[in-house]
This record gives sequence, structure tokens and C-alpha cells, in this order.
Amino acid sequence: MRRWRLHVEAGALIVVGIVLAIILPADAASRDPVRARQGMVVAVEPLAAQAGLDILKQGGNAVDAAVAVGFALAVTHPTAGNIGGGGFMVIRLANGSAVAIDYREKAPGKATPAMYLDAKGTIVRNQQVTTKNSKGEPVHPQTSLVGYLAAGVPGTVDGLTTALAKYGTMNLKQVLQPAIGLAEKGFIVEYRLAKSLKTAAPTLAQFPSSAKIFLKPDGQPYQEGDVLVQKDLAETLKRIAQSGRDGFYKGKTAELIERDMAANGGLITREDLSAYRAVIRIPLHGTYRGYDIITMPPPSSGGVALIEMLNILEGYPIGSLGSNSSRTLHLMAEGMRRTYADRAQFLGDTDFTDVPVTRLTSKEHAAQLRSLIDPFRATPSKELGPPLVSLPEEEVSTTHFSVVDKDGNAVSNTYTINGGYGAYAVVEGAGFLLNNEMDDFNIQPGVTNAQGRIGTDPNRIAPNKRMLSSMTPTIVAKDGKPYLVTGSPGGRTIINTTLQVIMNVIDHKMTVQEAVDAPRTHHQWFPDVLNIEGGVPLDVIEALTVKGHTVNTLNTAKTAKYSQGDAHSIMIAPETGLRLGAADSRSSGAAVGY
Ligand code: DON
Repeated sequence: MRRWRLHVEAGALIVVGIVLAIILPADAASRDPVRARQGMVVAVEPLAAQAGLDILKQGGNAVDAAVAVGFALAVTHPTAGNIGGGGFMVIRLANGSAVAIDYREKAPGKATPAMYLDAKGTIVRNQQVTTKNSKGEPVHPQTSLVGYLAAGVPGTVDGLTTALAKYGTMNLKQVLQPAIGLAEKGFIVEYRLAKSLKTAAPTLAQFPSSAKIFLKPDGQPYQEGDVLVQKDLAETLKRIAQSGRDGFYKGKTAELIERDMAANGGLITREDLSAYRAVIRIPLHGTYRGYDIITMPPPSSGGVALIEMLNILEGYPIGSLGSNSSRTLHLMAEGMRRTYADRAQFLGDTDFTDVPVTRLTSKEHAAQLRSLIDPFRATPSKELGPPLVSLPEEEVSTTHFSVVDKDGNAVSNTYTINGGYGAYAVVEGAGFLLNNEMDDFNIQPGVTNAQGRIGTDPNRIAPNKRMLSSMTPTIVAKDGKPYLVTGSPGGRTIINTTLQVIMNVIDHKMTVQEAVDAPRTHHQWFPDVLNIEGGVPLDVIEALTVKGHTVNTLNTAKTAKYSQGDAHSIMIAPETGLRLGAADSRSSGAAVGY
């Protein structure tokens, strides 16, 4: 039976590929992208997107607008927008030069590899706080996830102020003005925020400093239609407008952070804060079918893995095999599996560990991996090495936005507080949530097990080290001109989401909106499961199962909340120069242009 199937499949590869491409319906019945002649901003929350557009209309460039969006989201999208977290920004200027700003959080100076473990090596839980596990049962959360000890030294303010100073044209007061207004005067809470506040309320309620901001005096979370005012946050933003990075990393804000840390078992000190620096890095550069891929280097694993996967997949006629056909999904899954195995083995903060970036992103490495892919059978992940199993990561706690201005400068920015509402702790008196990014380290050194731990060295905790990320802000260029600005939240799925948006436009010739809305897939080596969003036909899933994949379908009526990613993207039409904005239909974002 198997021989027969292999024979038929081998013989029919090209023919079936072409037929599939013709008969398969387009993946996503999408609306048209938003079209604009000059500038475009796409972000998860409409008020913040509008703040960016206003800056563009006032004559600001893409960096000015991106900084305004970043600060505005810290007010209007508290699940992920932040000044208490960190992220990455890739900038490609109209003259073709590109930079990456790494404003990832760092471990505090007092951090140690075993800081989340007790004497027996078991992960410590925060006895003061209860949350619910996925089954809805009350649990004490890990100290790497909830509470002050979970926080890395925030990088966002230095990242955004550095971007503005080096590549912007406006001053901080101008670009902070929308955020300050939204915090001081308040804004109307919309449905999605109300829904997420309701879920987070029981945990937020256990931190008086957080309850004060996100719960009403009667203890209820803000509801749809309520006005959320954040006075302390407005004051913190004003100090930044006044003094730049020093308004956060020194003086009153730094004192408030240090005091709250000391009172609640956290480690971050004023020294940690004043020593924090965003780093301007050279972006990674890859190519895919003649397009330039400009993306984030370590300490994100995103760019390395993205280029590695694109290099592998470049060797196949993906366009004619068809979008979300079983053949395409099989090859993608095999590329993902191998790349995520490399990620777990090699990736970490390059200031602390040697990462073979050149080798991993080379066409030769991809060719070698490709030569081991069976086009008809899934390779069991355990054959690629010992199971360095990854924990699932939380959703909706990272956000990506894209900006293009009238001159063709482009900004791709992804930033995060890691989990939704980060560590759930607002800095008393300063009005912003702390990240729980320390959990992105391998917190149990040496322990790699089937329950979901990675204990490898490159990403173990060390003082002042940046934890490994998957954030993948990316700009694609063609013939020296910007073509696509994209990226996504979603933990380890980020890299695969970004990969698929890029392949959807380049291989499958989708509009940017179709590319963003099309069903997505994710494989991360371990667990050895291929996640596929709803919308992919059952016979494709059956064909993948026959090839040996364990398929998990997401986003069916039963699991609607588990969609993959939120990729707010912009395409610049090569023929007309039109800016085509696509807010991801999975969330309630906005593409606004002029
Ligand atoms: O840096 C990272 O890769 C993770 N902290 C991102 C977490 C995330 O995307 C969760 N939200 N959607």
C-alpha cells in the first residue's frame, strides 16, 4: 500500500501540484487592503494607529509615527502595548539603509541561573497570588510569570527614544502628545479590551497598584463604553517627554520602580535602570526568490529562523504546489521542524553566547537540511535530536505595528510585556505594567523534559543578559524599494506567521490582506504537532495525516480563541507606489492612511 502510494505520489508531483494550484479556492475571502498614496499605519488598536497617522500628516516621518504609536499603545492596549517591556524595531530608510533597534529587556544585575528554583531544583510558585490554569483550576503561578520577580529591566523607553533621536525628525514632546492625551483625558474602552480586562481582573485584583488602575472603585473591571483614565501613567509619560530616557531610567520613575521592587521581592535597582541601553544592530539580510529580507538579528531568534526557513523552502515550487495544499504544508512543516530544532540548540544573546548566525542563515545549510526532507513522509521530530520541548506561550501580550511614510521610509516594530498584562503588577505611582519577560529564559538549567522545558545553555539566565525572543519585525524589499512591512505577536508562532505572510504574497500572489488573513500553520519541532488554523479543508488535513503528521486544528468553533498571530502589515505596490494596509482580521486593529 505504502509503496503504491509513494510511487503514485512521486509520479504525480508536478501534475498534481499544478492542478491543485488551479482548482484550490483562494484561501482567504478578504476585504480589499486599505489604500493610500502617501503614508500608512497599521496597528492593533485604532486610536494608536490614528496617533501615528496624525504624526505623519503633521510632516513626521515613519519613525516619528512609529514612536507615537508605540507610546499610544502603552495607554490604549495595556495587554501588550507598554513602557514596562521591550521589543525590536527594524527601520529601512528610503535611501535603502536599514537598522535594527534592539530594546529587549535584560536580566537584572542580581539575577542568577537558578533564581526561579528551590533547593530541590523545583520551580518556585508565588504563594501570594492565585491564577487559573488552562482547565480553570486555581493555581499559584510561577514566580517567573506573575509578580515582581518575573520582570526584566524594561527597554521600551530607551528603544523608542533612541529611534526618535537617531532616525526621527520630531521631538519627544510632539510624538508623546497623543499618548499623554489618551492617558490623561482617558479613552472609551472597546469590546476587546473589556473582554481581556474581565479575564485578567481576578489576577490584577491581587496587586493593589494594578487594581487601582484597571478595576473600578467597586472592584469590577472597566467595561465596554467606560472611560479609562490613567493619571499616573500620564505623569510618567510627561517625565519622559520632559527628560527623555532619563525621565524613566533615572529620577522619580526609577525611584518608584526600585521602591516597588524592594517592597515586593523584585530585583530591579536604579543601577540596573540607569545602565540599560538599547542597542542599534545591523539587521540580518536574506533573500527569497529575488526579494530582500531585512529582519531582526539575535537576541531574537526570529530573523535567523525566518531566513533559514525561507532558504529551505526556496528550493521547492511552492507557488505551483498551491497555498495551504497538503504538499506545501508538508514541506513547510518539515522546514519549520528542522529550523526550530536549530533554534533550541543554538540561539541566545550573542553578547553571552556564540550563535552561528552566518551558518544557520546560509543557503548551504538550507540545502543540506532540504536534502534530508522526504517530500512524502513526515520526519518524526525525535529523529532530529533529543526533545528540547517548548512550553506553549501566551497570546495577546505582544503586538506588532507597521508604518510607511510618504518618502518610502518604513518601520516594522514588535514589542511585548510577554504574557497578557505581563507580570500583572503595575509599578505603584508610575501607572504602567511590568513585563514577565524573564520567563523567556531557560529557567531550569540542564532540565529538558517532556513536560515542556528547555534547559540548554545559550539561553540560560545571567546578570544583564537579554532573554531569547521570537519577535520577527521584517521588511521585504525588491529592486531597492520597500515592498512589504510585516511581523506578528504569538510567542514561538511569530516566526511562522511572518514566514507565511511573506510566502503568501511572494509565492501565492495574494493581496496583502489575503496574505494576512489566510489560515496559518505552526510546527516548532517539539511537541511534534502541526497546528493548523480553521479554513484548511479536511482532505488537506487527512493527506497530512497520511504523510505522518499529527495535526491539531485550531480556531474551530470549539477553540475559536486559539488563532495564530496578529500580523498588521503594509505592502507598497511596486507598479503604483500605493501603500496597501492590512489589519489582521483576527483582531480589531486598523489600517489608516492618507
Ligand atoms: O519575545 C518573545 O518571543 C515572547 N516574549 C513573545 C510573547 C508573545 O508573543 C505572546 N503574545 N502574543
